[in-house]
Order: sequence, then structure tokens, then C-alpha cells
Amino acid sequence: MCEQMETNFPPELISLLRACRRAAALTGAGVSQESGVPTFRDAQSGLWAQYRPEDLATPEAFRRNPKLVWDWYAMRRARADSVAPNPGHYALVEMARCIEDFTLITQNVDGLHARAGSPKVIELHGNIRRVKCFECGQPAATWREDGETVPRCAACGGLLRPDVVWFGEMLPSEALDAAWAAARACQVFFSIGTSGLVQPAASLAYAARGGGAAVVEINLEPTPLTAQADFFLRGKSGEILPALVAAVWGQTQ
Ligand code: APR
Repeated sequence: MCEQMETNFPPELISLLRACRRAAALTGAGVSQESGVPTFRDAQSGLWAQYRPEDLATPEAFRRNPKLVWDWYAMRRARADSVAPNPGHYALVEMARCIEDFTLITQNVDGLHARAGSPKVIELHGNIRRVKCFECGQPAATWREDGETVPRCAACGGLLRPDVVWFGEMLPSEALDAAWAAARACQVFFSIGTSGLVQPAASLAYAARGGGAAVVEINLEPTPLTAQADFFLRGKSGEILPALVAAVWGQTQ
């Protein structure tokens, strides 16, 4: 228990977090990058390099070429299945133990926060492991691949699709309401590994600020949020988060 670590974190940040009773964190693709999941905007390589992610992640793209979209997500699902959570994910589990009321909100669809052990993750953009019907919305627990066609819904015969939020689609309202409530009520809001380019997630930090929270950003590079952040910790979330947790609360086992 509790060996303090020497760090360069600002003392004001350390005291702020020690006193914090209510925090929220929004994570993006950067948090999974060190697990080997490419960030959304870097996901295009090899066969997929010719497509923009935005052209594969819309209902129109699915209508136009369902097999192409299904295959892209099958590739990403296989990749997510083959990787493991990294120290950044585990540090967020620890943070939830140390802060009385901690809400973890993610834009990631890879399910790595839950696999690391974070309780009650708000998945704003869905989860790539789940599949549902494009027509009737019924979730599909199992499906059969023949390699040629997109699997179909057992209930209505519609095409199956990943249960993720595509560009131009509504976010799950319950998840979004919970995220807004947590952002507005928190004392500290973390924005971690997200470019802050996609709404409405990008607005959560501003809602938190509006509610009086201090904003702590962790990213490899500045983003549109950086100028508004109270603390900008530049670097890899898989290194900064465990060091921060250790500096604030000590090494908890
Ligand atoms: N540690 C911290 N930050 C990192 C790391 C890392 N190891 N690696 C990358 N980053 C940062 C990048 O600098 C960038 O700002 O993570 C951010 C990743 O940005 P995006 O790829 O745009 O991912 P994200 O912000 O999650 O995108 C949001 O957009 O396309 C939609 O639905 C998709 O959920 C996704 C959403």
C-alpha cells in the first residue's frame, strides 16, 4: 500500500485529485492505441487504405455495400479480440476505486475498459462485439458467416450490422443522458486520448467546465480542447495514467 512516487505532476493537480469526490473521464481511441488497436483515424492500412473511415461507418455506406462494411468491422472485431487492456485501462479501474463517484465514458467500441474491470462503463458509440439487425434493431447473440454474404437476422431476415453508432446516427439516449449528467456534476473531468473532433462527446468537457469542473487533458498532442483545459498532460495515457494514480493515491494493490 501507498508508496509515494516522485513525479513532475503539478502539485495543484495532485491536491485537486486527492480532494476530489466526483469525477468523470471521457476516453477515445488514444487510450487503446497502446494495446495495439489503431486509432480510428489511423485504422486504415493495406486493403482498407483506399477508404475514409467516414465512408465505411455510415448507414448509407452499409446500404451501398453491406459486405464491405461488415468485413471492415469483422477485421476490427478480430483485432479488438486479439489485444489486451494496457496500463492506462487498469489505471482507470484504480481511479474508480479511489474516487468516491467516478464515471467512465468512452467513445471506444473495443470493450477494453470492461475487460480491464472498469465498472459501469458508458459506451457512447456502442460495442463492436455486439451485433444487431439493420432493419428491426433486434440484437443477435450468434450469427453464421459464410464468407460470401452478410449474415441475416433470425427474427426478420434483415441484414445484421455491428451495434456501433455510425456517423449520422443518434447516440443511445440513456448513455448520452448519463454522460451529460456526470459531466455537469463532476468536480474534475478527464479527457483522455481523444481528438475532440466528434460531437456530442466533444462537448462533454465544455459542459463539465460550465458546471465548474477542472478539466484535465491527457493526449500525445494538443487538441481543440487544450487551450480550455486546466491541466494538459502530454504523453501516452498508458504511462501518464498509472503514474498519476500512483502519485495521487499511492501504489494500491
Ligand atoms: N495516449 C494518449 N493519446 C493518444 C495516444 C496515446 N497513446 N495515441 C493517440 N492519442 C491521441 C491522438 O493524439 C488523438 O488526439 O488520441 C486521439 C485519437 O483521436 P481519434 O483517432 O480521432 O479518436 P477519437 O477521438 O476516439 O475519435 C472519436 O470518432 O470516428 C469516430 O466513432 C469514432 O469513437 C470515434 C470518434
